[in-house]
Amino acid sequence: MSATSRNPWWRGSVVYQIYPRSFAEGPPVSGAIADGVGDLRGIREHLDHVEWLGVDAIWLSPVFTSPMADFGYDVADYCDVDPVFGTLADLDDLVAACHARELKVLLDWVPNHTSTAHPWFVESRSSRTNAKADWYVWCDEPPNNWKASFPRGDDAWQWDEVRGQYYLRSFAVEQADLDWNNPDVEAAMLDTLRFWLDRGVDGFRMDVIHMIGKDLHQQDPDGAVARAWSHVPYNDVEVTHERLRRIRAVLDEYPGDRVAVGEVYLLDETAVARYYGDGDELHLNFNFSFLWAPASATELRARIRRTLDVLEPLGACPTWVLSNHDVPRHRGRHGGDERVARMMALMLLTLPGTPFLYQGEELGMIDADIPDDRVVDPGRRDGCRSPIPWTGDELHGWYAPTWLPFGVEAPGRNVDALRGDPGSILQLYHDVLHLRRRADDLVDGSFELVELEPADAVLAYRRGERWWVVLNLGDEPVALPETVEVAVATVPGMVGARIDAVPARTAVIASR
Ligand code: BGC
Repeated sequence: MSATSRNPWWRGSVVYQIYPRSFAEGPPVSGAIADGVGDLRGIREHLDHVEWLGVDAIWLSPVFTSPMADFGYDVADYCDVDPVFGTLADLDDLVAACHARELKVLLDWVPNHTSTAHPWFVESRSSRTNAKADWYVWCDEPPNNWKASFPRGDDAWQWDEVRGQYYLRSFAVEQADLDWNNPDVEAAMLDTLRFWLDRGVDGFRMDVIHMIGKDLHQQDPDGAVARAWSHVPYNDVEVTHERLRRIRAVLDEYPGDRVAVGEVYLLDETAVARYYGDGDELHLNFNFSFLWAPASATELRARIRRTLDVLEPLGACPTWVLSNHDVPRHRGRHGGDERVARMMALMLLTLPGTPFLYQGEELGMIDADIPDDRVVDPGRRDGCRSPIPWTGDELHGWYAPTWLPFGVEAPGRNVDALRGDPGSILQLYHDVLHLRRRADDLVDGSFELVELEPADAVLAYRRGERWWVVLNLGDEPVALPETVEVAVATVPGMVGARIDAVPARTAVIASR
C-alpha cells in the first residue's frame, strides 16, 4: 500500500529527514562556483535514491532565509528560500518532483524564535514604542533563572544595548524567542503556514513547538543546568494547547490531510501524549524517550509499552525515531556495532505508527570525527551532520570539498558501494521498507509484545495474525514458540529459511 492510498496518509507512512546542507549538491549553474554545501537541486537530483529506498515522505530541515547561526533554525524570512539552497522556484520544483513520485513533502517550521536578523526583531529592538515592540519577550530585569542551549548554560536573558533591555533567547544569542502571548505574533506565524500550504506542501515538522507557551514566573528547578529541551514545567503549560488547536485549524482549512509533527522535547510519554489533544492538536509527535533508550530488550519493551499504553486510548498515532541532526547517530550511540544498528532499524520499521529515518542511517553511518578547527555548530552537533557520501571517489559525488568533513568510512560506506552489495545495511532498509508495502499487517496490523526467554536479551512482537518480529540482542540463540519463515533478516543468507530459533545478535521479520 502506498502512502497516498492510506487514510490519512501519514498514519504508518515512513518519513525520511533530509538535512539539506549535507544531503547532496546540484551541479553548479553556469558561471557559479560549487561550494560543497547541499542544496535543493541536489535533493531533486537524488530523489531516485529516496524513491528506490521506499519511503513515503521527506522532511526538509529549514531552507528558509537565514544567517545560519544555527544552520537555518534562525529564520530571517519564513516565506523565502536562502540563496545557499536555491530559490523559491527550486523549492516549488522539488515539491512538484516529489509529488510526481508520490512522495509527500514536509517543511520545518520554527515558531519559537526568529533570527535577530529577521525584520520583525530589527524593528522590535529599535525602540520600546515601535509597532513590533512587544513581538519578543523583553524585560528590564530577568524574571527567572532560565539558561540557554547555545552555548549550553549561558543565561537565556540577553542584554540588548540598542533597546536597553533583556530579550529571551532560549537557544543562541542570534535566536530571539517570539512572544506568542501577542495575538499579532500568532497571526503572523499562522500566515507563514498558509504561505507554504498554498504552495502545496503536505505538512510541517514543528520545531520545539512545546515552547510557544511559557510560564515566565517559574524558575528552572535545577537552576544551573541548561534545560531548554528537557521536560521542564515552564515549557509544558496549558496555553500552548489552545495555540496548537488554532495551528491545527489552519492545517484543517486545506484539503489532503496536511500534517503537523511536533518536536515536543519532553522526555516523558504521558506528557507528550497531551500534545495530540483530543485529536485536535498535533497529528504526530516525536517520541524522544524511545530515541534515547539503550539497546536493551527490557528498556525498549518498557518504552514501547508505555508509549502504546498512553496513545492507544486516545486513538493517537505513535512515532518512532532513532537518529536526527541533533543527536549522535544511533549506530554510534549503541557502540558502533553495525549488527546492533541493523536490529534497531528492523524494529523501527515494524512498530505500529509512523517511523522517521534520518538521512544516512540507511548507510549505517556513524558520526564523523570533526577536528576542532572544523566545528561550526554552536551546539557541537557537527558529527551527525557530516555529508552523505554518494560515491567512493575523493569528493564522494559532491562538486567541491564539503562544508563538513566526511566520516572515515566514506570510501567504502557510500551509496554506490552499498547499492551494489546485496548484504549491505542499505539493502536491508530497502527490503524492510518494500516488505511494508506488500504486507499491510506490518503497518496496520494488531501489535502484541511477546516475552521470550531470556527476556533481557530478546525483544519480540507479533504483527497481525501472521508476522513475528524478533530481535535477539544477546549472545546465545533464542528459541521461538513455533517454526516461522524468514522474510527479512539482519544477517545475510536467512531469507526463505524456516527457523525455530533466532541466532545471536540477529533480528528477523518472519511469518507463520
Ligand atoms: C532543532 C535544532 C535547533 C533548535 C533550535 C531544535 O530542536 O532540531 O537543530 O538547534 O531546535 O531551533
